[in-house]
Amino acid sequence: EAVCCIKKKKSTGSLDLSEQIKEVTKESHVRAENTELMLSFQRGQVTLPQYKLLLCSLYEIYQVLEEEMDRNSNHPAVAPIYFPAELARIKSIEKDLEYFYGPDWREKIVVPAATQRYSHRLRQIGKENPEFLVAHAYTRYLGDLSGGQVLGRIAQKSMGLKSGEGLSFFAFPGVSSPNLFKQLYRSRMNSVELTAEERNGVLEEAVRAFEFNIQVFDGLQKMLSVAGNRQRQSSTDSNAVHGKTLQIPG
Ligand code: HEM
Repeated sequence: EAVCCIKKKKSTGSLDLSEQIKEVTKESHVRAENTELMLSFQRGQVTLPQYKLLLCSLYEIYQVLEEEMDRNSNHPAVAPIYFPAELARIKSIEKDLEYFYGPDWREKIVVPAATQRYSHRLRQIGKENPEFLVAHAYTRYLGDLSGGQVLGRIAQKSMGLKSGEGLSFFAFPGVSSPNLFKQLYRSRMNSVELTAEERNGVLEEAVRAFEFNIQVFDGLQKMLSVAGNRQRQSSTDSNAVHGKTLQIPG
């Protein structure tokens, strides 16, 4: 369906990149919102293990995304959407990881294979197609500035965290109005000069970017369910030692 949208809009030729990219990723956005992890957030049921594991993956993703944005900051398709002071997340994520995992957090990072595939793709396009970076920057940063703002407040409540502790990721102190900033960002995206072929490449890459995110979220949930089963298993074992039986829910 995404491909059909690209064709339709191209033939009318009237839509800006910011409108096209929103259009082609609409369906993917709905799927991303409906992943188990994002549903937990929306229901106010996000748990500490879920959030900690998410932070680990965000660390790997933003590290590569921001390194590649920095390296290509003078590229004509990157320069207009390069806002490190306002958007860069890596320092915030590091702070949150240190809060939850302690000073040796770097040794505790665990990510699903999907996160490695995502960061590998980011590295590759940074080297081979920097004009596609706009698709990835859009997907992450505009998402963080949109739904992410609500999710941050929900997460704080769900996990009973104190005033923003461990939640730097969600805070954008350099952006006073997310809505105005999003408008500026869209106009900058629209100022990027792309050939028809490059533009289609960017639109395809945006759909891919959403797909990577969905796979990361699903990968995280799988890791958590395996860890959960192990924990239940070991408590069953210890119960067996004490000669009791334990009902395992589900
Ligand atoms: C925009 C909600 C997850 C990427 C938005 C908007 C809302 C929203 C309310 C503003 C829509 C508008 O201004 O018209 C949510 C909720 C989510 C979620 C509740 C999950 C709980 C995600 C994820 C991603 C994402 C996982 C990508 C990784 C985006 C992007 C935009 C956006 C790129 C900007 C769209 C545009 O204006 O072009 N989201 N979102 N969202 N979201 Fe999400």
